[in-house]
Amino acid sequence: MTETTTEAYNTGLAAQEGEATAKGSGNAATDRFKTAQVSADTTPERARAIYDDLFAAFRDIINKHQITYEEYNVLKSWLISVGEYGEWPLWLDVFVEHDIEEANYNRHEYSGTKGSIEGPYYIPNSPKIAWDAEMPMRDQDREVTPLIFQGRVTDLEGNAIEGATVELWHADDDGLYSQFAPGIPEWNLRATIVPNENGEYAVKTIQPEPYQIPSDGPTGWFIKSYDGHPWRPAHLHLKVTAPGYRLITTQLYFKGGEWVETDVATAVKPELILDPKKNEETGNNEVVYDFKLDKED
Ligand code: DHB
Ligand code: FE
Repeated sequence: MTETTTEAYNTGLAAQEGEATAKGSGNAATDRFKTAQVSADTTPERARAIYDDLFAAFRDIINKHQITYEEYNVLKSWLISVGEYGEWPLWLDVFVEHDIEEANYNRHEYSGTKGSIEGPYYIPNSPKIAWDAEMPMRDQDREVTPLIFQGRVTDLEGNAIEGATVELWHADDDGLYSQFAPGIPEWNLRATIVPNENGEYAVKTIQPEPYQIPSDGPTGWFIKSYDGHPWRPAHLHLKVTAPGYRLITTQLYFKGGEWVETDVATAVKPELILDPKKNEETGNNEVVYDFKLDKED
């Protein structure tokens, strides 16, 4: 393993204090999203067609379930709270993004690695690390399971691609993301891995824990209203690309892990499940995963 320093990341610790709350991570996700310039070239005709279908769906639901005025007012009040808590990125990415991702994938004839949702906690421009480095992480003063995550990034035929990068970000052993929960160094468990000339990468990170949607805010109230659970299985987030190749935004899960079968965000796909094995000599979990990139179309 190439040495990387954790000191710079540990200094961030002192700057942040407090508990992770829905308002905290919600507002951080909203603030982050607001800095992105978003636009779409939707024509008025297309907009009209989408709205017509949307209101037709509302009408059907209202009539089918005989929605009451009390329920309508609770909905208004809840919508206001989602905005006040900054939870639109959280709620939408849990309940809507997986369908957007599927619809966009199905428009193409891709055969490379499958995508999955991005979620609300991506930060661009993470520090670059060598193909065999350690992820930026805190000194381990608590029990964590190291994970050696390795494999290759290639084209569909298995050839290494020049200029490939693997952005990796994931929650820590408390299920918390740096820059969205307090008390975590800025780039903790976030990096851009640069594969070697054979397309190989082999980084050391830690096993993340399942992620619980902050349940003290409106997304949590929503889930409680139908007796649901607020959990996502433990996962790694990735953006893998190379010049001229499709950017894959995806997630990887862990076989047999809690909530894999009942992910609240319904973003698990069978092709995206890792099965790490413990190396008895080192105590590390080890897993190999190869990414195959489609050409840009
Ligand atoms: C949410 C959080 C995640 O970590 C993720 O991968 C997807 C969605 C959320 O809170 O909305
Ligand atoms: Fe996540």
